[in-house]
Amino acid sequence: MTEELWAQVDDYTNGLLVEQDAALKTAAKASAEAGLPEIAVAPNQGKLLHLLALANGADRILEIGTFGGYSTIWLGRALTEDGKLVTCEAEPSFAARAKSNIEAAGIADRVDLRIGKALDTLPVIEAEGIGPFGLVFIDADKANIPEYFDWALRLTRRGSVIVVDNVVLQGLVTAADSPNPAVQGVRRFHERLAAEPRVSATTVQTVGGRGHDGFTFALVTG
Ligand code: DHB
Ligand code: MG
Repeated sequence: MTEELWAQVDDYTNGLLVEQDAALKTAAKASAEAGLPEIAVAPNQGKLLHLLALANGADRILEIGTFGGYSTIWLGRALTEDGKLVTCEAEPSFAARAKSNIEAAGIADRVDLRIGKALDTLPVIEAEGIGPFGLVFIDADKANIPEYFDWALRLTRRGSVIVVDNVVLQGLVTAADSPNPAVQGVRRFHERLAAEPRVSATTVQTVGGRGHDGFTFALVTG
């Protein structure tokens, strides 16, 4: 009953506040097409990313974990025509699906999709000097979140924001002895954040149509 209520509230508020065009609706189907549970961000979280990018005035955005391009579209639509979004995807079949969704959304001119493991691609992005990025969104494999965060810090500047998805994992983040690499990833990430003087961060738990999870918002202050 509780999860049903969370989903009802999402449906109600999204119905009033979160408009999705055909391109977003198509991109939202990527999970089902790949035979996966819903792993793209929820519509209200997609819009939050869009608003954060607008509020920050980001003209360079980095995304780690493209999946079907749903969050990419929300973020890319916050850019002006001369803005740039670089998005990294390790799984070629996801990248192919994302490419067509990004084209359908009319933002292919602003989106630079890199296929390959992000830990291999990020040094290339640094060497190319594309940054600094005003906003970084981390939404890839959870075991490597601390490493992605370190790269995000290297590629940002004072005033940039770093948003990280799935940092609560249905509450498993508190399971200190869990052998699950994702749990250890989100725990190491929080410990890394706590020790990092160059950012000020907070984690917000979420419930809704995607169950119980959460995201971290980190502001680069130094
Ligand atoms: C998973 C990944 C995600 O990014 C997410 O938002 C939910 C679930 C997963 O891999 O299970
Ligand atoms: Mg996610």
